[in-house]
Formats: sequence, C-alpha cells, structure tokens
Amino acid sequence: MANTRRNASVTIIVILGLALLSCVSANGNRRALVNAGPPVFDITKFGAVPDDENEDNFGAFIKAWNAACHSGGPAKVLVPKKTYFTGPVLFQGPCNSTVTVEILGTIKATTDLSMYDSPEWFTFEHISGLTLTGGVFDGQGAAVWKFNDCKHNKRSCARLPSNVKINHVNNSVICGVSSVNSKQFHFHIFGSNNITMYNLNVTAPDESPNTDGIHLSTVQKVTIKDSIIGTGDDCISIGQGSQQISINNITCGPGHGISVGSLGKYKDEKDVVGVEVTNVRFINTTNGARIKTWGGSITGKATNITYKNVILESVKNPVIIDQHYGKKKSTTIKDIHFINFKGTTISEAAVSMLCSSKFPCQCVELVDIELSYVGLKKTLPFVSTCEHVKAKFSGKQNPPACKLQ
Ligand SMILES: *[C@@H]1O[C@H](CO)[C@@H](O)[C@H](O)[C@H]1NC(C)=O
Ligand SMILES: *[C@@H]1O[C@H](CO)[C@@H](O)[C@H](O)[C@H]1NC(C)=O
Ligand SMILES: *[C@@H]1O[C@H](CO)[C@@H](O)[C@H](O)[C@H]1NC(C)=O
Ligand SMILES: *[C@@H]1O[C@H](CO)[C@@H](O)[C@H](O)[C@H]1NC(C)=O
Ligand SMILES: *[C@@H]1O[C@H](CO)[C@@H](O)[C@H](O)[C@H]1NC(C)=O
Ligand SMILES: *[C@@H]1O[C@H](CO)[C@@H](O)[C@H](O)[C@H]1NC(C)=O
Ligand SMILES: *[C@@H]1O[C@H](CO)[C@@H](O)[C@H](O)[C@H]1NC(C)=O
Repeated sequence: MANTRRNASVTIIVILGLALLSCVSANGNRRALVNAGPPVFDITKFGAVPDDENEDNFGAFIKAWNAACHSGGPAKVLVPKKTYFTGPVLFQGPCNSTVTVEILGTIKATTDLSMYDSPEWFTFEHISGLTLTGGVFDGQGAAVWKFNDCKHNKRSCARLPSNVKINHVNNSVICGVSSVNSKQFHFHIFGSNNITMYNLNVTAPDESPNTDGIHLSTVQKVTIKDSIIGTGDDCISIGQGSQQISINNITCGPGHGISVGSLGKYKDEKDVVGVEVTNVRFINTTNGARIKTWGGSITGKATNITYKNVILESVKNPVIIDQHYGKKKSTTIKDIHFINFKGTTISEAAVSMLCSSKFPCQCVELVDIELSYVGLKKTLPFVSTCEHVKAKFSGKQNPPACKLQ
C-alpha cells in the first residue's frame, strides 16, 4: 500500500517536472493534479480545434465550462496540449460543482479588438472553489499596445482587455499559470475573497503600456507568492478596497515595482488596509516599494502596510511615497513600515517620501535601509527626501535618514 502511494507520487513528480511551473507549492504541499478523480470536460470534445487561426474556439471553451460547472460534483475542464486561438471567454457561475481548469497547452488571444465587448479576455465570474492551473495565456498584446498610448496621445487611449479577470470569485487558487504579453493587466482580481496565487510566470516587455502583472481591487485575503513577474507596469498593483493582502517571494523586473495605488483618483474609494510584502527582489525596476495617491478623494485610506526583506538591483526609486503633495485633499497614509532593504539604486534620492501639508503621512517606520548608488553620476549627495512625513528611522540608514520637520 505504502509502496503504491510512493510510486504514484514519483509519477506525479516526473510529470510535473517536465513543466517549468507547477502547482507544487514551495513548501512541499503537493496538489493531486494527476488522478483518476473528477470527470474531465476536454474542450476538444466540445469542438475546439488546435493550431487553427480561427478565433471561434470560444464557443467550445464556454460549452466545456458550462458542462463542468453544472455537473453537480468536482469536475475538470481540460485544455490539452497544443495552441488554441480564441476571442473572449466568459466562465460564469454559480456552479453546483467545484471546477478545476487545467491548461496543458497555450491559449492565444485574438487581436481583433472589435471582438471584445468589455476589457477582458478570459473572465471567471461568480464562482467559489475554482482552481486554475497550468498553461500559457498569450494576450498577443504587441499588436494593440499602440492603442493604449495614453501618455503620448490622449485620443489613442483605449482600455484594453486583461488576460485573466477574476470577478467575484471566492476561495480559489491560481497556480502554475504563465501569462505573456497581455493587452493590458495580466491578472485583474476584483470583488473577490480568499484567493491564493502561486508559481506564476508573467512577462511582457518593459515598454508595454499598463501591462500590470496582477492588479487587485475590492478584494480580501489575497495571497500571492513564489512567482516571477516582469512587465511594462507594476508587477503587482494594490488598488482601492484591498484588505489582508500577503505577498511573498516575488521576483519583479522589469516593471514599476509593487505598488499600493494609485489611490484617490475617484470618489468613494475604499481603504487599503493590511498589506504585507516580504522576501521580494526587484531587478531593474523603476520603483521598489511604492505608495501613490492622487489629490481629489479623501474617502479611502492606506494603512498598515509593511515591506520587509527586500533586495534591490539597480532600482530607480527603492522606497517611494508620493501623496501628490501640495494639493489640499489627499488620501490618509498611515502605519507604514519599510524593513530590511538591501541592494543598489540608480537614484541619488533613493528614499523619497513626499506627503501633503494638510494630510501628513503618519507613523512611517524605516528600519535597516542599506542601499548603495550605482548610477552614472560620479559625485553626488546620496539622500533621503521627505516632505510632511512623520517618520521614525532606526538601524542602518544609507542614504542617511531625512532631517524631519
Ligand atoms: C517564463 O516565461 C518566459 C516567457 O514566456 C519564459 O522565457 C521563461 O522561461 C518562463 N520561466 C519559467 C520559470 O517558466
Ligand atoms: C446541477 O445543476 C444542473 C443544471 O442546473 C442540474 O441539471 C443538476 O441536476 C444539478 N446537480 C446537482 C447534484 O445539484
Ligand atoms: C463570495 O463571498 C461573498 C462574501 O462572503 C458573498 O457575498 C458572495 O456571494 C460570495 N460569492 C460566491 C460566488 O460564492
Ligand atoms: C480559502 O480557500 C481555500 C481554497 O482555496 C479553502 O481551502 C479555505 O478553506 C478557504 N478559507 C476560508 C476561510 O474559507
Ligand atoms: C520562491 O519562488 C521561486 C519561484 O519563483 C521558487 O522556485 C522558490 O522555491 C521559492 N522560494 C521559497 C523559499 O519558497
Ligand atoms: C496589519 O496587516 C497584517 C497583514 O495583513 C495583519 O496580519 C495584521 O493583523 C494587521 N494589523 C493591524 C493592527 O491591523
Ligand atoms: C537593466 O536594464 C539595462 C538597460 O535597460 C540593461 O542593459 C541591463 O541588462 C538590465 N539588467 C538586468 C539585470 O536585467
């Protein structure tokens, strides 16, 4: 008995070992992906055709999903090996089953924007107990990024589809998934509770616009760990209404870092409370730990946010709080901790905390910030810049701590 089980687990290791990414979590918990268990709803049995440039596979995806979702027990939607081209796909609940979507192949998005009614490619909606695992979502964004050129051209500023939108989903896991060249956000998690994401591989070129790796808003209890993210925007952006967010063991770069915000752009925003970012590495990013708010809204707050054990290589802004200082109204920023930052920066103001005079940043703590300058200037003052921030510095500080008002 014990022997059979051991053989079975050896087989699992071998099979998973073939894929670069898997749902074997870093702490050794093995999820049983390979078993005789639940009924399988293979998209090719519902009419999906691989290696075809025809984007009408979406009907097969949706039929396979609907069958699994209404099967009454645990069920698996299978996307076999090979490449499947498709327009937008909506996987909608509620289901009376617990569904695993297992992708072995690659799914490629149509670049015909007229096919998208809303800015999503794959949407998972009103589901509890989902597992999404394996495979590659290729958004083929390079063909359309020019339509999201908001910085340079206000008229050419469309909101483009996310690769994967998780909308009102609870108690779910996303693991071992790769996402490349999304048209806009790679993963957009909205209105959801208790989501765990790990072993993700997210890539897009550093110049691709708004291709955030994971964007969160109005979510509770989200864990993101053991992943590699390199994109043209934030590796992870934590938007309004995000609470109990845990981020651990992420390699980020290229990209804009792991950011709280932007907050305060819209009316009636909800608080960001309880964010813990630990054991992260930033390589060649514009920011490391960033908290950014706009003037305009004062409804939301950003509180209880910790970045701890951070390694930086050639990062422009390792620690940055930008409260849109100068404006009267602003989001409250309070109870913020930056602990144990090590590495290199290309900016002479490696620690920058610019808050508003009316709403100073409060209870900000920096412990052991040990950075060195590797930028191009030969001599410079290596400094921390602070405006209207109530901060406490302790341990080693390089750049030297600000003189506080
Ligand atoms: C992540 O994805 C990129 C681009 O598809 C690929 O080159 C790289 O090998 C992947 N890394 C892992 C660990 O799977
Ligand atoms: C699940 O839902 C489907 C469709 O609504 C229904 O036909 C089926 O009987 C349900 N099964 C169970 C076990 O509730
Ligand atoms: C998710 O949880 C929320 C809050 O507990 C609940 O209101 C919602 O109905 C749940 N959604 C699903 C799809 O289970
Ligand atoms: C969170 O979701 C996981 C499945 O992903 C589930 O095992 C766990 O029980 C859920 N936690 C709560 C508090 O519902
Ligand atoms: C961190 O994540 C990487 C994948 O990006 C994984 O290979 C490694 O084992 C993880 N480290 C720990 C300590 O879990
Ligand atoms: C701060 O946030 C962390 C991480 O989400 C949480 O564990 C802790 O309880 C929070 N502390 C307070 C005082 O809210
Ligand atoms: C960082 O970016 C520079 C310029 O874009 C590039 O030459 C260098 O190879 C990058 N370094 C790493 C470690 O990615």
